[in-house]
Amino acid sequence: MNINIAVLPGDGIGPEIIEQALKVTEAVCNKFGHTLSYRKGLVGACAIDATGNPYPDETHALCMESDAVLFGAVGDLRYDNNPNAKVRPEQGLLAMRKKLGLYANIRPVTTFKSLIEKSPLRRDIVEGTDFMCIRELTGGLYFGRPQGRSEDGNTAYDTCVYTREEVERIVKLAYEYAMKRRKKVTVVDKANVLATSRLWREVAKEIAAQYPQIETEFMFVDNAAMRLIQWPSSFDVMVTENMFGDILTDEGSVITGSLGLLPSASVGVHTSLFEPIHGSWPQAAGKNIANPLATILSAAMMFEYSFGLMEEGRLIREAVDASMDANICTADIQSQGAEPYGTKEVGEWIVNYINNK
Ligand code: IPM
Ligand code: MN
Repeated sequence: MNINIAVLPGDGIGPEIIEQALKVTEAVCNKFGHTLSYRKGLVGACAIDATGNPYPDETHALCMESDAVLFGAVGDLRYDNNPNAKVRPEQGLLAMRKKLGLYANIRPVTTFKSLIEKSPLRRDIVEGTDFMCIRELTGGLYFGRPQGRSEDGNTAYDTCVYTREEVERIVKLAYEYAMKRRKKVTVVDKANVLATSRLWREVAKEIAAQYPQIETEFMFVDNAAMRLIQWPSSFDVMVTENMFGDILTDEGSVITGSLGLLPSASVGVHTSLFEPIHGSWPQAAGKNIANPLATILSAAMMFEYSFGLMEEGRLIREAVDASMDANICTADIQSQGAEPYGTKEVGEWIVNYINNK
């Protein structure tokens, strides 16, 4: 098969972790006889530096011409504490999601046996956790207008907007995933306060009626935040709006032991995109200490979701598990007393595992 992808390293640790995921992708293509072709593009602060635009037209054209996008992270310290910056790296990511029509962000949260001790939660709470958060990605507070400041600068506003169509398509997707899993959907909202949440609940109830085999549970977001650390294994598929999903998946990621482990797939109208859920961690850029596993696991999702190549994805997961069992881990997940490995060394170990398989 021809695997034709766009590679967008982005900022901070993006280039280092993408390099490892790309090496792994190449190794898998060699192993299974696929032809890999890729082109690199700019997004984020590096794109602003080069072109003034955090998501240049050229990058968009590249994504549209590719079968999948492998993406690192965006963000830069020069912008984080600068409220006056006119363009921000994050706008590149948001523009990319919007222009590619990536309305669904799929974030699986699973536990790794060898890492259970790393979780801030007790073993008996964490064990058996395996759920999927489906986060709406192109609506809500992130994109609603108006957004801005009053003339005197003393009032600021964001707007949360959702249409019936936007809610329908994402909730349907959640039910379709639940059909292939343990047949339970948790709809997370704040319907006791927000009008948009009441629309979500209304629409979700209509869709739930079309899936009688599936158990539906409605949960307020504050309660969901609590339940997530109290009883994470009670979730199967969770579906929620953009901002709630952003927050809950960061919370979900530490259940597994590290933010550095969670991959994601963003799917929708045009080319799908695969990215780790963690950010650009600019403080670690170039230090060879970032965990590449979330990005490598995102590449596994790419094989499975964009190309239907399940064996290829499975081999990557097996290699990642093996690396952790062999204690070839970056500092964030390395066991106490053991020497941590670098980003590159973890990537190389996984490539070798695949080659020797
Ligand atoms: C994420 C990130 C982004 C988001 C930022 C970088 C805009 O936190 O992918 O979760 O909030 O969506
Ligand atoms: Mn986030």
